[in-house]
Amino acid sequence: MIETIQWTDGAVVMIDQRLLPLEEKFVTCRTYEEVATAIRDMVIRGAPAIGVAAAMGVALGVASAPEGDLDAHIETICDTLARTRPTAVNLFWGIDRMKQLYGTLRGRPVEEIRRRMIDEALLVREEDIAINRAIGRHGAALVPDGKTVLTHCNAGALATAGYGTALGVIRAAIESGKHVDVFADETRPFLQGARLTVWELQQDGIPTTLITDNMAGHFLKSGRIGCVVVGADRIAANGDVANKVGTYSVAVLARENGVPVFVAAPISTLDLNLASGDLIPIEQRAAAEVTHVFGRAVAPPGTAVENPAFDVTPARYVTAIITERGVARAPFETSLQQLAKGEG
Ligand code: MRU
Repeated sequence: MIETIQWTDGAVVMIDQRLLPLEEKFVTCRTYEEVATAIRDMVIRGAPAIGVAAAMGVALGVASAPEGDLDAHIETICDTLARTRPTAVNLFWGIDRMKQLYGTLRGRPVEEIRRRMIDEALLVREEDIAINRAIGRHGAALVPDGKTVLTHCNAGALATAGYGTALGVIRAAIESGKHVDVFADETRPFLQGARLTVWELQQDGIPTTLITDNMAGHFLKSGRIGCVVVGADRIAANGDVANKVGTYSVAVLARENGVPVFVAAPISTLDLNLASGDLIPIEQRAAAEVTHVFGRAVAPPGTAVENPAFDVTPARYVTAIITERGVARAPFETSLQQLAKGEG
């Protein structure tokens, strides 16, 4: 499997997810500003992968910041990275984790600070893979055997440091001996499902069928889909889930047809400071993502466009939230708090 993000000598290397699956090219970021641009332009995307990129971006910034006034520089580095994408809380989690470490290192020799910041960013990456495997272990038991799993967007190895959250659950179900295949929504407008989910599942030999987003209801009604498994960008204290736009429609259609909806996400995706999903900031992206497909216009010039990148699925449509510490069910106000405190 191709690595999503790696630290190499003084640089952060990412597979360019804008080009997959047609081209397998890597982008090398040598400055924190380049990491910020890569996150904003979606060279790298997916909440946990964005968190890892942010942590590496901070480490890269500190590694090249001039020795004097590191305090001021770290503020600039963190602000620049924080202004890239607003919805995935893992971005802010990754930045905060690095900032907190820096706080404990203040006054230490600069070389030590730089080394410790890099070590921490590498640890964030390693931990993410282990977390996804744990999510997979908890989620595998929930996946009905002999049925199809419907997923939306890409919550796979490419959206994380490796293995994936939603696709990690599918991988773990298969590793545990279950026979499942996958339906992947194409996920307009950025086509993460068609381009990324299908590609990465094919690499693993997992049988995958591509459908357009508007086919999901048809198949959810057919009885073929055993469950929906998706990732999340931010989960509020009441269990409302922000994820790729279109997730809400899938969840409502799943409920209508008696199909369980599982959300797979690390604890770092919980934002328990927000009482409900209404408070989650929703990223608005460029109109051209909707009016154009691969650079070609599909709508008349001057077409008015809305392009929210995420929607919020109310907790009542979520059957369970699968984390590395266990599975949360309604009432989510208490179950998520317990998992966050490590009382799973
Ligand atoms: O805009 P993207 O591609 O960053 O959105 C990604 C998603 O919505 C994923 O489902 C989510 O980040 C979870 S990834 C494990």
